[in-house]
Parts: sequence; C-alpha cells; structure tokens
Amino acid sequence: MANVYFDHNSTTAIKSEVLNAMLPFMQSQHGNPTSRHVFGRNARDAVETARAQVAQAVGVQASQVVFTSGGTEANNFAVHGITAGLVRNGFEKGQILTSAIEHPCVSKPAQALQANGWQAKSIPVDENCRAKMDALEALLHAPSSLVSVMMANNETGALQDLPQIVALARAKKVTVHTDAVQALGKVAVDFNELGVNAMTISSHKIGGPQGAGALVLDKRVDIEPLLYGGGQELGLRSGTENVAAIVGFGAACELAMQNLQKYRQKTTALQAKLDAALRAMGANVFAEDANRLPNTTFFAFEHIEGETLVTALDKAGFAVASGSACSSNSGEPSHVLLAMGVAEDIARGAVRVSFGSTNTAQEVDGFLIALQQEVARLKQYSAIAA
Ligand SMILES: Cc1ncc(COP(=O)(O)O)c(C=O)c1O
Repeated sequence: MANVYFDHNSTTAIKSEVLNAMLPFMQSQHGNPTSRHVFGRNARDAVETARAQVAQAVGVQASQVVFTSGGTEANNFAVHGITAGLVRNGFEKGQILTSAIEHPCVSKPAQALQANGWQAKSIPVDENCRAKMDALEALLHAPSSLVSVMMANNETGALQDLPQIVALARAKKVTVHTDAVQALGKVAVDFNELGVNAMTISSHKIGGPQGAGALVLDKRVDIEPLLYGGGQELGLRSGTENVAAIVGFGAACELAMQNLQKYRQKTTALQAKLDAALRAMGANVFAEDANRLPNTTFFAFEHIEGETLVTALDKAGFAVASGSACSSNSGEPSHVLLAMGVAEDIARGAVRVSFGSTNTAQEVDGFLIALQQEVARLKQYSAIAA
C-alpha cells in the first residue's frame, strides 16, 4: 500500500482544480496587479475574484479581507496591528489576553509586546481544552485591549465557545481576534455569527497552496498597517501580491464550501471508527468530551513515547504527527496538553491523527492493525527497559 497521509492539520495537498486555476498566473498571465496594461488588469481581476471567494466562505464583504502570506503573518498582524491602532487612537495599553493553547504565532507576538509596556496574560483551559469562562471574566476586570482565542485547536481539535467569549469581551469593549486556521473548511465559519472583530485563515490547510492567508476585519477595527510601501491590500499590507497563491486560496475556499457537508460526514465516520478502536486499546484520547473538529484525534498510550510511535508508524506507511508541526521539533511535551493538566509523561506520548477528505475506512483499518502491532512491540521494549 502506498504511504497513507493522516496529517492534514499540518498541511494538505493542493486540489487539482486549485492548481489549474493557479497555473495561468505562473505562466502566461504573469502581470503585476498594479500595472495598467491588460496583463496587470487580468491579475487585478483575479486577485479581486479570489477576495470575493474568500469573503463568501466566511460570510463577509470582500473589502474586509486582507491577504497575507499565511496564518502566521495574519496572527502577528492582528496582535501587533490592533494594539498599535489602539495606541494611535489614544487608548491606554491594557492587557492582551490569549488562551493557553494558542499557536505560538499568537502567543509569542503578545509576549513580545511586553517589552513595549503591554501586559500579556494567559487564559487557562479546562481538561477538555476549552477556555475557562470564569477565568476570562476575572481577567477582564483589569483594563484589557485584546482577547485572542482560537476557534479550533490544531492539536486536540477542540472547538471554543466564541460567542460566549465575545459576549464577555464586548461587555468590557475589548476587541476579539480568533485564529480560525484549523476551523475553516472543517466546520462552518461565519465571521458575523461568531461576533469577532478579526479572524485569521490560511490557504494550505484547505487544499490551497502554502504561503497565502488572510486577516478578516470588522470595519470598526482601526488596525495599524503591517507593511508600508506601495499601498496594496487597502494600504494595510504593501507588497506585490502573490497572485497565483491568492488565486489558489480563493479557489480552495470555494471548493471547501461546496464540499463542507461531504467532508464533515466522511471525516466524522473515520473519527468515530478511530476513537472507538483507540478506547478499546486503552489509549488516552485528549479533549474527548469537547466538541471537536470532525477530522482530528489526539491520543497517547502510557509508557510509549509519541516520537517513537510516530517514527514506527511512518515506517509502517502511515504519516501522523506527534503534536503540532512546530512543537514536534522542540522535543518538549505539547504546551496544549500541559495547559489541559495532562501529566508530562502522558503528554510525551501524544500522537495526532488528522484526516482529510480523500482518506478511507480501509486506510483506517490498515492503520489500526499497524498501530496495534507497534503498540504491542513498543510496550514490550518499555517493559524490558523497566
Ligand atoms: C492554529 C494555527 N494557527 C496558525 C498556523 C500558521 O499558519 P501558516 O502555516 O499559514 O503560517 C497554523 C499552522 O499550523 C495553525 O495550526
């Protein structure tokens, strides 16, 4: 059997329709969208079509979408740009509240701002990876400027109660940003229904190319530009647009919306099969009682290192992750699991499976056979070592 890819939360393959939409803009239609000639006008039209496609996918107007180089840039832009905009408008520097399970591209810019007199504080989560509302409410008693809580966690798949978070923050007139990178294409993402002021999305998690993303903004947010220059992207993010990638992002959004129902049905069935088997094998399934993304399961077996199991499964033909792609290089246990109160030795065993629309029940069957074999083999080693 060819290698099986179960790591869609890290990145996804570009869909063929997306690639076909992109190719002309890497070949014959190579204009700069700022140019006035026909090549430039075609490129501009393509960027604006993509903006409308992205906007439609999250229920906003095209003028609310600012293209970026991806989720990391959009999250940094949100934290730095919103706080700088508040200062420009004469507001005091209040707390920046980010949940304890954020991707580092949200938490690190918040921490970096402490050097400029801001206070970064962490909103704790419960054992099911959900932000604690009573803790957020208590934190909001002190003057606050920004709340950022991700819509879906990249490791556990846990979904947050954003409308409630927004209600608490709004009561104190605090701006709310959400990182919806992992939610888009997997569950419905409606900017206005969520009630947030700013939202990050990324192309390569939904069958689009790497290197494109967007910050979606409520018109009331007065954000400081990220890059100054030629004034592209409403003057907020100068630089010649990555036309082909933006076109691919737009096409991927449209496809993801068309396929959302099918995607959910398919991945929900695969997840149910995997979770039931994992429970029968005695694994810890993290955030088990949370409302989770339909494609994501994060689990651990006691006395088995996650890295070791991931390597063994890779050899057996299954690509899975030992947590987020970024943290898997660090050798440290997942900060998400530690924030959930998971013991360090259990957290070190964490393995993430994230399905995509092309995965099948047969692949899950094959995976479960390989998993059972590898878990039995590694348990023997750990018994000998003990
Ligand atoms: C929740 C979350 N936010 C942000 C990012 C970063 O997005 P990008 O890879 O487009 O920079 C990721 C990528 O793994 C993610 O999972």
